[in-house]
Amino acid sequence: MSKKKTIRDINLTGKTVLVRVDYNVPFRPGTTQISDDSRIQATLPTIRYLLERKCKVVLVSHQGRPNGQVVEEMRMKPVAERLSALLGINVIQAPGGVGSEVTRAVLALPPGGAAMLENIRFMPGEEKNDPKLAAELASLADVYVNDAFGTAHRAHASTEGVAHKLPAVAGLLMERELEMLGSALDPPKRPFTAIVGGAKVSDKSAVLDRLAQRVDAILIGGGMAATFLKANGLSVGSSPVEDERVASTAKFMDRIRFGNTSLLLPVDVVVADAFAEKAHHKTLSAEKIAHGWRIMDIGPETAALYELQIRKSQTVLWNGPMGVFEWEPFSHGTVRIAKALAGLKGATTVLGGGSTAEAVEKLGLASKMTHVSTGGGASLEFLEGRTLPGVAALLDA
Ligand code: 3PG
Repeated sequence: MSKKKTIRDINLTGKTVLVRVDYNVPFRPGTTQISDDSRIQATLPTIRYLLERKCKVVLVSHQGRPNGQVVEEMRMKPVAERLSALLGINVIQAPGGVGSEVTRAVLALPPGGAAMLENIRFMPGEEKNDPKLAAELASLADVYVNDAFGTAHRAHASTEGVAHKLPAVAGLLMERELEMLGSALDPPKRPFTAIVGGAKVSDKSAVLDRLAQRVDAILIGGGMAATFLKANGLSVGSSPVEDERVASTAKFMDRIRFGNTSLLLPVDVVVADAFAEKAHHKTLSAEKIAHGWRIMDIGPETAALYELQIRKSQTVLWNGPMGVFEWEPFSHGTVRIAKALAGLKGATTVLGGGSTAEAVEKLGLASKMTHVSTGGGASLEFLEGRTLPGVAALLDA
């Protein structure tokens, strides 16, 4: 992808700037308290740069997947409040995504003031990349800045459509993500290992296929390991399995067997009798999971095997935790992987995905990684070599 213009390449002084950010932040379960504000923190350099130039800054983001409807617990209010505290100014909460009242709120902003639009996925046109919504968003500003690397793989009205209707440049976070992810793996030092976890195979299956052509080893963990183990002919007890993915996962494993990439699956697992922090749990062989028990983490033998592979790697890409790391009894696999990566000398370590980033932040190990991306799906698609529509739509440098 060609290099893109950034906010440093155009004169923005005094302009009204629409900034797409990815404030899809995690909340503590059952609350609207932000549990990790890294995605907000990561956009501060861009916002400060604009405020210093007396721009009127109009922020737009999505939160969750409300499917074009207003969902109370997905409002941007907690995010606007956190951003206000971080910036030390009052970030105005606009009374919607677009419309006359929103336009009035933007017009009323003082130079060097900021407003946040309501969750843009409350608008049915957002995910459909509706040109009308894109035009309405564009009408709010003179310039469009995309700093939402984490959403750049979505061709939506606020990430792609609007970029064709205003001068459109990258923010500083977007620029850094593209530089770091681009240079870290171009070409990758070998051995190159990918660690893939998280809940669902369906989110990652295309990525896995492409990764298998680039990496030397793939290590599987997280909830998705159950689908792999089942596809390998094992019983996974009461672990949630994406049944419709079992056959394609088995085919994927067959393809891998004939290639040069090794695929490592858990040999032991921590299982629990319920999806709860205090559930009864035990560690056993991945071949012995009985009905009534579900996989919550990789086991210690698996962690040891994965550590061995990590230690001999020169490049490691990690996306998705190994277990339900938020709960201590099921955090050990993720902790061991994080520590193994942090202990590598001279290797390139690139992490992506909200939960993975949250896990290493919690452990205080983020600074030991080459790059912790704010993008989950976006970083994987970028590393697969796919064009991200939100980036492609920006002006070439
Ligand atoms: C993410 O968290 O990966 C981004 O915010 C994109 O969210 P989405 O997968 O709901 O499009």
